[in-house]
Amino acid sequence: MKFGVIGHGFMGSRHVAIIDSFEECECIAACDTDPFRLKGLDKKIICYEDIDLFLENPSIDVVVIATPNKWHKEHALKAINAGKHVICEKPIALSVDELDEMKEAADRMNVTLTSHHQRRLDQDFQAIKEAYEREMLGNVYLIKSVLYGYNGYTHSWHVYKSEGGGMLYNWGVHLIDQILYMVSSPLKTVYADIRNIINIEVDDYFKIILKFENMVTAEIELGTYMLSDKEGWFPRHWYMFGNKGSMYIDGFIPEGRILRTTQLLAETLDEEGRYCGPTRSFGIPEKGVVYTQAIPYVKTETREFYANYIRAIQGKEPFLVKLPELRYVLKVMDAAIKSSESMSSVAF
Ligand SMILES: NC(=O)c1ccc[n+]([C@@H]2O[C@H](COP(=O)([O-])OP(=O)(O)OC[C@H]3O[C@@H](n4cnc5c(N)ncnc54)[C@H](O)[C@@H]3O)[C@@H](O)[C@H]2O)c1
Repeated sequence: MKFGVIGHGFMGSRHVAIIDSFEECECIAACDTDPFRLKGLDKKIICYEDIDLFLENPSIDVVVIATPNKWHKEHALKAINAGKHVICEKPIALSVDELDEMKEAADRMNVTLTSHHQRRLDQDFQAIKEAYEREMLGNVYLIKSVLYGYNGYTHSWHVYKSEGGGMLYNWGVHLIDQILYMVSSPLKTVYADIRNIINIEVDDYFKIILKFENMVTAEIELGTYMLSDKEGWFPRHWYMFGNKGSMYIDGFIPEGRILRTTQLLAETLDEEGRYCGPTRSFGIPEKGVVYTQAIPYVKTETREFYANYIRAIQGKEPFLVKLPELRYVLKVMDAAIKSSESMSSVAF
């Protein structure tokens, strides 16, 4: 299978390396409007500054799009209409309408279209998903997905709205996708608070609350200017709470515990032997009442995205990332923007 990559920047160069690490695949072409970005590529890779000439190369079977977000629809349509299969970086499009146009073209040209949602394979997420699916905490009522950064500003094209910048399109798309991939219950409401804290044009903080029919509430919070001087501080956290225990995870390489109690704290007696009501629930529990267990370990790696892609395109298994799922994520993002603008929940 021969690949060509459009946009040889941060992510495009990673795609070239991953593609070449599979013996079934070979990256044979790269396209970037900035010739500097094409310097130093392996000599076997033909370099183009013009996308139309790149797409005329009949040997390219699959085009990977890793250009800034505002180009995704245009570049995907060009590649699809040239008869190429497409893997588009996330977000696959900037709205549901854009994606529908891309899907219509892919169906018409009988080619496949998917998006690089490799964070479904992150270890921290897989550990939470495993615990959720195995009902290790009983009935889960709350899941929190948190990403706090220090640096405030985002960079290069990400700071411009017209380029498809901002954290909702950058990280929000991954974080929403993870929750929807895990909680397979109909979504009932979306509430979002999306802000520009340090950046002028684009969002750099958001809280999104998703309420599902099975009574699970998922809260996603990201900020690029959330400071801490705590030792061992991690940017990434998960919390999950159920009626049989709680679980936390710190970091992308997950460190965390499942916590359970030997008895319900409501039955605690005070020093005089009197029954203590729920207020004591917030006191420090007696030694031994809370015990911990290891979080599940799931052997997973993000390059499995390509391993699946190779098998899927050969018809051996379904694509890991399917178009209806991507449409669902974009629909939730559209609803989140609407909710934030109207400062109220949006029924889904
Ligand atoms: N899946 C992930 O984890 C992940 C991580 C980072 C970035 N991304 C995605 O990858 C894409 C690229 O992001 P990046 O951080 O690599 O950006 P980048 O700025 O590092 O790279 C973009 C490249 O595209 C080139 N380019 C711009 N306009 C072009 C055009 N019209 N035609 C051809 N080339 C053009 C630029 O010269 C640059 O080399 C974005 O969609 C981003 O969301 C995904």
